[in-house]
Amino acid sequence: MEIDRRTVIAAVAATGAALAVEACATAQQTPTSAAPANYQALPLPFDPKAIPGLSEKILVSHHDNNYVGAVNRLGAIEAEVAKLDINTAPGFVLNGLKREELIAMNSMILHEVYFSSLGASGGSPSSQLASQIKKDFGNEKTWRDQFVAMGKALGGGSGWVLLVWSPRAGKLINQWAFDHTMNIADGRVLLALDMYEHAYHMDFGARAAAYVDAFMGAISWTNADKMLAAALRA
Ligand SMILES: [Fe+2]
Repeated sequence: MEIDRRTVIAAVAATGAALAVEACATAQQTPTSAAPANYQALPLPFDPKAIPGLSEKILVSHHDNNYVGAVNRLGAIEAEVAKLDINTAPGFVLNGLKREELIAMNSMILHEVYFSSLGASGGSPSSQLASQIKKDFGNEKTWRDQFVAMGKALGGGSGWVLLVWSPRAGKLINQWAFDHTMNIADGRVLLALDMYEHAYHMDFGARAAAYVDAFMGAISWTNADKMLAAALRA
């Protein structure tokens, strides 16, 4: 899917924008200090050697290539938007850049939640999150069974499974997303399962279901607990 996106970017560049070449190259680079301050890539929030079921190799590759690539691409896209003469730029150039900006922005955010969803120590959700899961799903097993089934259903494809708090709905929702741009508009993402092949193929090959089980066994609830508490305070 990443390659497909670069192809799309390249199509936009056919209008003369040099962005595509720059963005494609940037996507494979390590972080640069030239990136805007808001878009400095964060380090992995855990020791990649210590996550049960997922190798250091895939976690570091996922972080350094896919996540950092999205962060760098975001900075490059915004720089190109800033250079446009907004009064004369063709609509399709602006549409293309803003579409790619959205993809890169959400890729950055969702990957940060994904990495924050993993930890070495396992554990359980806080009492606040546990009681909300019980309220909205009946019990934790029902929530877990649905979340797992959604992940396995995306095997062989790509996308995200997200545990989201929606203020409008006033409840937790397991949300399906086919790509980085599909999110409930007011959703606060608490937990993120990345179902793009780059998240598991190196370790599991085509065995996407085994990866989902490994993810479920390596969940860290700390960030989800904080996110829900903050959302309910707001
Ligand atoms: Fe990913």
